[in-house]
Amino acid sequence: MIQMQHGAKITGTGSALPEMRVSNQDIVARLAVNSVETSNQWIRERTGISERRFSDLSNPHEHNSSLGFTAATKALEMAGKHPGEIDQIIYATCSPDTLLPSTACWLQHKLGAVNAWAMDLNGACSGFIYGLGVAEQFIGTGKTKTALVVGGEVLHPYINWEDRNSSILFGDGAGAAVVAAAPADTPRRILSSHLKSDGHLWELLIMPGGGSSMEVTPEVYAQNLHKLRMSGKEIFKAAVRTLSEYAHIALDANGMTIEDIDWFLPHQANRRILEAVAQRLRIPDQKVLINLDRYGNTSAATVPILLDEAVRDGRIQPGHLILMDVFGAGLTYGSLLMRW
Ligand code: ACO
Repeated sequence: MIQMQHGAKITGTGSALPEMRVSNQDIVARLAVNSVETSNQWIRERTGISERRFSDLSNPHEHNSSLGFTAATKALEMAGKHPGEIDQIIYATCSPDTLLPSTACWLQHKLGAVNAWAMDLNGACSGFIYGLGVAEQFIGTGKTKTALVVGGEVLHPYINWEDRNSSILFGDGAGAAVVAAAPADTPRRILSSHLKSDGHLWELLIMPGGGSSMEVTPEVYAQNLHKLRMSGKEIFKAAVRTLSEYAHIALDANGMTIEDIDWFLPHQANRRILEAVAQRLRIPDQKVLINLDRYGNTSAATVPILLDEAVRDGRIQPGHLILMDVFGAGLTYGSLLMRW
């Protein structure tokens, strides 16, 4: 095992959401255009979602990298850093502004972070935790002093409005964290990250068209192959299993138990998934942070938005133990334990 020279700790957080609120009733109306039936009651009861935000794509301030810019600016302000001090930008997203250049480079340009190197990371909904894990390693070896990790998505353009299974779930938003070097033995740092993928489960959530293997031809367009396709039930089962497993992996690796946790920050996909996991882990509801009722599933952005809200409203206090636990398309999953 490599002995890390430095610890890594989050010193600032920020988040940003588009203005437009999209209620379940708006979703009902949008699906009805294609004669697809759903209801506010079904969406609330089966997912826990009441509304989500959609970016106005005609407004450049609501593009993915712009939401990332607002979130990053707030995080830098909290950390007391200026953009020139960032060495590394990791932008976790599966809905980049453009395939080239990366959304991370768009963000670098907008911030004026002239001393950074910048890259996108596609870990789907697990992306932010993957990004923290990468930053932790670069900081640990001394290569990076200050990293900016962003989870940002503008997912609504990829919604298939003929599919009531997936169209009800997703929203847009961004969250950011400044991660800085800290003494290796300081208790207040990222304590561990455990990351994993199961590529053989690729079929459960996929956007087949639009990549290099399938151009968006009129036929692909007509079949909505450039939009999200999801096997909801299978993802649901895999999510409950992997979230529970990776929570235990994080706790065991640190010689801790669920009673030690102050706050559990799981990926926000469906309230019933979170309830099933909380029950399995025997963690009290008051310790489980949830905001999917307001924002839906913002993929890589859910955990950093949760974190920022709880830091800013004072629920998360210095010394608290935080367990982040995620899953996403790929499938990808993992957990991260940190002392705030
Ligand atoms: N409105 C009304 N009825 C619906 C809707 C809807 N929006 N969606 C499905 N139904 C119907 C189905 O057709 C089915 O009807 P039937 O029994 O007559 O066939 C019935 O409801 C039950 O369908 P299920 O698929 O069993 O519904 P379920 O309770 O599993 O809920 C859901 C579906 C909400 C998609 C759930 O499975 C889920 O949340 N899965 C996880 C999805 C997820 O986490 N995705 C994100 C992955 S993370 C990432 O990387 C982006």
